[in-house]
Amino acid sequence: MDASRLLVNSRIVPVVVISRLERAVPLAECLLEAGIDVIEITLRTNTALAAIESIANQVPAMTVGAGSLREPGQIGDIIEAGGQFAVSPGATAELIGAAHEYNLPLVPGAVTPGEMMNLFAAGYSLQKFFPAELAGGAPFLKSIHAPLPDIRFMPTGGISVQKAADYLALPNVAAIGGSWITPQHLLDTGNFAEIGRLAAEAIDMSRVKH
Ligand code: 3PG
Repeated sequence: MDASRLLVNSRIVPVVVISRLERAVPLAECLLEAGIDVIEITLRTNTALAAIESIANQVPAMTVGAGSLREPGQIGDIIEAGGQFAVSPGATAELIGAAHEYNLPLVPGAVTPGEMMNLFAAGYSLQKFFPAELAGGAPFLKSIHAPLPDIRFMPTGGISVQKAADYLALPNVAAIGGSWITPQHLLDTGNFAEIGRLAAEAIDMSRVKH
């Protein structure tokens, strides 16, 4: 259930809100071309599951997962659509139980050391740190590395290209997530040239040593 093995190539995870299904496949192809092979489609629109399904079927080199997971009942739908992982803003016992039951790799959200320790004890060595910027940002993650050395994070929430390097340089940051690579106005207008540029810029940034 631990999702660590999914984040071995790209350290950048675009968090995407898809409102037009026809954007899903070209977006996945564009990100892949820039070197990003993981995408999180948030379950916030009616088209999210269909977008996951289209990407899973038509862009097999892309690892596609579902974001904003809150209800255990959504897990079966994610798997049926071909989703390979899920990300949740926080964690409940029910959600963890269902992810175990369905064997779905999950990146559960945590923000306090206690939440992080509980999730680690449940088998999650990769966790989402959310909302990253408001919860203390890179300095917070840096300060918890010594006492919690076994936990890796995917900070998400308020991260921009300007802030990315600070996170990526930390030894306990496996990857960073965010919507800055796929802003809604670029998706709405189908501006994949600019999305590709933002993705390539993020990938360049992620090559920093950590
Ligand atoms: C989210 O689930 O909305 C993510 O954390 C993305 O946050 P961002 O839009 O601030 O990058």
